[in-house]
Amino acid sequence: MSDSIRTIQVHTRPAYTVSIGSGLLPQCGQRLRDVLPLCHVAVITDSTVAPLYLEAVKQSLLTAGFTVSSYVFPAGEAHKNFEALSGILEFLAEAHLTRTDCVAALGGGVAGDMAGFAAACYLRGIHCVQLPTTLLSAVDSSVGGKTAIDLKAGKNLAGAFLQPAAVLCDTDCLASLPAAMFADGAAEAIKTGVLCDESLFAQFEDGTLTAAPEEVISRCVAYKAGVVERDEKEQGERRLLNLGHTVGHAIEKCSGYTIPHGHAVAAGLAIIARSAETLGWTEAPIAARISACLAKNGLPTGTEYSAEALADAALADKKRAGGDITLVIPRRIGLCQLKKVTVTELLPIIAAGLEG
Ligand code: GLY
Repeated sequence: MSDSIRTIQVHTRPAYTVSIGSGLLPQCGQRLRDVLPLCHVAVITDSTVAPLYLEAVKQSLLTAGFTVSSYVFPAGEAHKNFEALSGILEFLAEAHLTRTDCVAALGGGVAGDMAGFAAACYLRGIHCVQLPTTLLSAVDSSVGGKTAIDLKAGKNLAGAFLQPAAVLCDTDCLASLPAAMFADGAAEAIKTGVLCDESLFAQFEDGTLTAAPEEVISRCVAYKAGVVERDEKEQGERRLLNLGHTVGHAIEKCSGYTIPHGHAVAAGLAIIARSAETLGWTEAPIAARISACLAKNGLPTGTEYSAEALADAALADKKRAGGDITLVIPRRIGLCQLKKVTVTELLPIIAAGLEG
């Protein structure tokens, strides 16, 4: 197997390896033999990804000696719900998966979240491996063990932590991504730059990402792995990874999940940066620099929804604890801090960040 594959260890319990590089999906069977017994692997994917990669993954798993079955659900965040989850769980039961078997989540953030949650609930938890095929799932959602579905009240409101047994990120999948989906992942990588890595952020300011996606993915995953090792269940530091997400999740909810996650996070990031400047929590020109970078990468920097609608939607967010909500505030590019505010303060904070 190619030694140009980069690997990052995530030292959680259990620990696992994130592998990043070209050609990993057609090798997934051999690679998973290193971390799984010869078991039944149920590949869960969506209707967009299945025609592209499902057969190659199944063939590789079969060749390596696994028993393989697959289930395809309709693509899109609007399907990240109980109905689709129930379809997956019933499928796992009908396919007779046992406690020693494994779910393989093949696809973007929705597939990873939903298949991961099914693995976390089925028989009170079976193994899961993540096979991300989008930039967004590569740089963020496939790592760290968060799994969830959306409820009518809001995004990711039912879920569980389940660290995967392995993450195999085949960068060949990125070549077939439509520009808007690539931009979606760029939003989470730009977020990482704002959190911890000014030189990563600067690559997006230059628009040079497409030249070296492995490097960008590795830097995002390495940072996230460290945060997750120190705070697996989001009691403290991991909350920083929610930069842009309070308003971002509100935008997704207000749009009926028609605005993709990365686009909503981009707008949420631009809005909280403007709020922070207006309210004197950070200094200009951080907001203008963030907005320019997002725009350069085809991402929005504002929203059509009112501060009232966004604040209402955000109050259902799981980042709320009683009467408080924890926001992530950029102090400079590469450094952010947590700020606890009351729910009544949220509306004026959001209003301060909406453009003119
Ligand atoms: N996507 C944020 C986290 O995994 O904590």
